[in-house]
Amino acid sequence: MNILAIESSCDETAVAVVKDGRTVLADAIASQADMHAIYGGVVPEIASRKHIEAIAGLADQALTQAGVTKADIDAVAVTYAPGLIGALLVGVNFAKSVAYGLGVPIVPVHHVRGHIAANYIAHPDLEPPFVCLCVSGGNTLIVDVQDYTEMKIMGATRDDAAGECFDKVARVLGIGYPGGAPMDRLAQGGDDKRYELPRAHVAGAPLDMSFSGLKTAVLNLAHNAVQRGETLDLPGLAASFAAAVSDTLVPRVMEAAGRTGYGKIAVAGGVAANSRIRADLERACQASGNKLYLPPLHLCGDNGAMIGCQGYYEYLAGVRGDWSLNAYATRNI
Ligand code: KG4
Repeated sequence: MNILAIESSCDETAVAVVKDGRTVLADAIASQADMHAIYGGVVPEIASRKHIEAIAGLADQALTQAGVTKADIDAVAVTYAPGLIGALLVGVNFAKSVAYGLGVPIVPVHHVRGHIAANYIAHPDLEPPFVCLCVSGGNTLIVDVQDYTEMKIMGATRDDAAGECFDKVARVLGIGYPGGAPMDRLAQGGDDKRYELPRAHVAGAPLDMSFSGLKTAVLNLAHNAVQRGETLDLPGLAASFAAAVSDTLVPRVMEAAGRTGYGKIAVAGGVAANSRIRADLERACQASGNKLYLPPLHLCGDNGAMIGCQGYYEYLAGVRGDWSLNAYATRNI
């Protein structure tokens, strides 16, 4: 079964062709990051317009790459939530037009479910149940993946997402947008104990997280350094910051895994590319006997293949959209 999969929730337009859930025949992506970098963050109106310009050409490109024709497509999967509403609407309406024109079903896919599914593509042996740490620019969740389409949130951020925190701190430090990858590179040469940064705990909710205090602490450090005419040790700050984020995420996902007893932990989303978080998880999983599933870097960020993969399992579970399918900025997983 060939699924044409469409992703347009933020600043990447992506169209993939995925065969039988886990075989990626094509994965075409057009990133708008350079355009948004000028403004230091994603400008929603520009994102929508860029998706409109790119999406049809990318679909053609994906079909050519996959070596299939429109007649070989059995269903269209599309990200319908969560994300920037105008950006999502471009993908949803394009998907509806293609499905209508081809006379095939349309399958709505939750963006975070897609990120989780990137692990099925990377790891052919991975099957639910497992615990997944989902960390991206817009979401930070610990999810109990009971089955391919049965999921329960075990913990979540109460404020900023981890990726958003990386991006905002990077912007203040003048490191650019998106800030996660350059902060990660900068941290390689830094002392992770150089600056004392907070690790927040949410009273009564041990698996929930908070990153706004950490963000404010870095902003205050930067502000005070400017006031006093001091130079910040940027590699040291990047390393101390990555350690604080990792110290917030890793113990909680380990605690969640212990509660379920599944013995399997996966990681998903753009921040899953972070080298400190990956290394800390590897150590913690080795010590506790959990099997760790890390997606390769090209499947951490937004892509169409993950939507095609999850779309396949949603299709098997009977999930279908109709012509009134809408997009939603927020939606429970
Ligand atoms: O999953 P993604 O591409 O988009 C969303 O669905 O949000 O994630 C993008 C986020 C950005 O905040 C980016 O700064 C962050 O992932 N990111 C990283 C790294 N690479 C990307 N954060 C930390 N370390 C990295 N190496």
